[in-house]
Formats: sequence, C-alpha cells, structure tokens
Amino acid sequence: MAGNGGNRVDATALGGVSATMMWTLRNRAVEASHPDGMLEDPLSVQLYEAIDYPYENFGLADQSHALRARAFDIEVRLFLAAHPGATVVALGEGLQTSYWRIGDDEVRWLSVDLPEVVDLRERLLPSEPNVTTLAISALDRTWMDYVNPDRGVFITAEGLLMYLPTEESLGLITDCARRFPGGRMMFDSIPKWLSNRTIKGLRVSRNYTAPQMPFHLSTTEAMALPKRIPEIAFAREVSLPLGRGLWGSRILRTLFDMRPLRNARPTLTLCGFAG
Ligand SMILES: C[S@@+](CC[C@H](N)C(=O)[O-])C[C@H]1O[C@@H](n2cnc3c(N)ncnc32)[C@H](O)[C@@H]1O
Repeated sequence: MAGNGGNRVDATALGGVSATMMWTLRNRAVEASHPDGMLEDPLSVQLYEAIDYPYENFGLADQSHALRARAFDIEVRLFLAAHPGATVVALGEGLQTSYWRIGDDEVRWLSVDLPEVVDLRERLLPSEPNVTTLAISALDRTWMDYVNPDRGVFITAEGLLMYLPTEESLGLITDCARRFPGGRMMFDSIPKWLSNRTIKGLRVSRNYTAPQMPFHLSTTEAMALPKRIPEIAFAREVSLPLGRGLWGSRILRTLFDMRPLRNARPTLTLCGFAG
C-alpha cells in the first residue's frame, strides 16, 4: 500500500462522522472482493485490509455503498466525456477511491475532508499529480478558490450532506450553484423517518450507534430544488444501478420507485447549475 511502507495503520481513534467513512469503505471493499461483485475496486480492498478498525461494529455488509459509488462513477464519467479536463470536487471524500476507478488522465480532482481523514488518505493512497487534497471542512468555502472552472466543474457529496445541519447543507448547495454556473452537483439524501431515527439514536450494533443525520430531503423535495434555489436549472433523480440478489430485483425496484415508497427511501440527485 502506497506511502505506509507495508505497515498496518490503526484507525481505531476515529470518531463521530469521520468514522462513518470506515463503514462505506468496508461495504465497498467487501463487495469488490465478492466473486460476482458489483464494483471493481482493488484499491479499496487494499485499503480495507491495511487499516485496523473494528469493522464488525457496522454489522453485516451490504451492497448499498458499492452501488452508490457506481452511480456516482457513471455520472462523473458522462460529465468528463462531455467536458474533458474538467474539475471534479469530492466533498467529504473519506477513503473513496473514485479517482482511480474512473481513471481519467485529464481530470483535475479536488478532494476535501476533515484533517484526521486527509491524514489517513495521504498515508495510504498514492499521490497523484492531478489530485489536490484539502484538509478543511466542506463548509469552509475557501475550497472553492482551488477550483479552476474553465473546463467544467462536477461536485460530488457522497454520504456527506445528511450529517450536516439542514441550513448548512442547503446553503452549501446554493453557494455551489452560485459560484459554478454551468456546473453539476450530485449528492445523496435520506428520508425524514430515517433522519428522525438517527436523532433518537440509531443503534447499528451493540458497539456502534450511527451519528445523527439531521438533513433529510425526499425524492420529491429534491426534484423541487430548482423552485427553491433559482441558480439550479434542473434536478434529476439518478437510479442506483441494479445489484445482486434482492438488490437486483426489478420488482422491488419498481415498487420502491412508486409513491409513497419513493419518498421513504434514500435518493440520489444530480443538479445542473444555471448559466
Ligand atoms: C459517510 S462518510 C462518506 C465518506 C465517502 N464520501 C464515502 O462515500 O465513502 C462521511 C464523510 O464526510 C466527512 N465529513 C463530515 N463532515 C465534514 C465536513 N464538514 N467537511 C468535509 N467532510 C466532512 C467525514 O470525515 C467522512 O469522511
């Protein structure tokens, strides 16, 4: 593993929202290790194996985060194909390995996360000339000064906005839309009932309670963002790719795409900024 001389890294001290990136890494790596896995991501497997962490705290692995990662990859690749040399900003990037999965030599990649997370990224992941990493909060708008918008901007917030206060999440989307006309932003959001469960204390296992996720936005609410934020020209729901077993069931997918279930499950949204 790059940068750590083959030694294992201890991440047991991670806490709060930063620790949730070990959950998503675990789920991607387990899926990538599966013989019929839905995600090709050998680097995430190496990361997972190089880090000491009580992964069992997150209960049984499932395909959710691997499929979510694929959905983001698909949209980023489409954007890069239409905008060669564009900048991708990954807010709250955690230990995502999207840059290497996407494998675009022309992309400029800006990775933003909190200092304890960036420290792990820099110790474990290869350094790349096209990648700039900032150890600051996504809410600190100075990251915007590092973006060259000339060839297009695609901002991702994968598994981030739900952990922020509502006004901060909506403020961040609004400021991105104002600052990067013609750009795109993709994020996931959770429904109100799930947000409420986390506020009461969502116990995932005997040793782990998920952090609070105060921000919720249903599919219908996400699709109405252009009415709320004039700098957003359009909002489109992005479907999760089909997975294996129940995650691949077209019947279940059709059911969950119908009201009222459509607004009671997590959703992925792609926003296009006006201009
Ligand atoms: C659920 S993890 C998702 C990590 C990664 N995006 C993924 O999908 O694997 C949430 C991430 O958001 C980061 N985070 C939380 N608050 C943040 C903030 N204010 N600014 C930047 N990153 C933040 C955490 O450190 C963590 O890496």
